[in-house]
Amino acid sequence: MGSQIRVIAIDGPVAAGKTVVGLKLAERLGFQFLDTGVMYRAITWLALQQAVPMDDSHLLGELARLSPIDLKGHNGSQVVVSGREVSRELRDPDVERHVSLVAQVPQVRQALVMQQRRLAAAGKLVMVGRDIGTVVLPDAGLKVFMSASSEERARRRWQEMRQRGRDVEYQQVLKEIKERDYLDSHRSASPLVPARDARLLETEGLTEEQVVVLILGMIQEVCRGDG
Ligand code: DC
Repeated sequence: MGSQIRVIAIDGPVAAGKTVVGLKLAERLGFQFLDTGVMYRAITWLALQQAVPMDDSHLLGELARLSPIDLKGHNGSQVVVSGREVSRELRDPDVERHVSLVAQVPQVRQALVMQQRRLAAAGKLVMVGRDIGTVVLPDAGLKVFMSASSEERARRRWQEMRQRGRDVEYQQVLKEIKERDYLDSHRSASPLVPARDARLLETEGLTEEQVVVLILGMIQEVCRGDG
């Protein structure tokens, strides 16, 4: 299945389940998987390390341009930037707090989009992010825009954090998700919006497996030519 589709773009707001669903889908199809969020996080981590001011667009852009991100291991789960393996650090609260600021810098986006397109050139790839269908891969064979209410997404993220041993309040997680949604969808460079030809997938109340099955159905429709 999916033989006529070389790349699948999955976009949507924070904690919509894109990464888990994208990974499962890639495994089913025998495709590679790329979560572009980790690239914005890696540059944010580097900027914090090097004490680059978060309002210096030029320096942030240079940092992204001169620091290629290496994605190693199974499905790019090991993120190497500037010679350091930083996969764990990418979830640091400090990175969480600053990543939306870094992601709104056009020079940063330009540098990362170039890397993302290079990685997609070989095809057979599921790419997950915010602007994949609109900017990075406008010719993707299938574009999916996943969404769910901020409350449901906060609940999922809160449970995930608690399972990882973090002691956080649900209300705090909800507040941060709303702030991130606002920043991601109101920035001037590549704001979070569904591509005109994206299929909207409301995931409220659905399990990850159910969402994967729905996307596999969409692929079948496209391959049959009635999508
Ligand atoms: O998906 P995530 O939470 O790991 O994304 C981290 C940040 O990067 C988030 O603020 C949105 C931004 N991002 C983006 O602007 N474009 C992408 N293609 C992926 C992520």
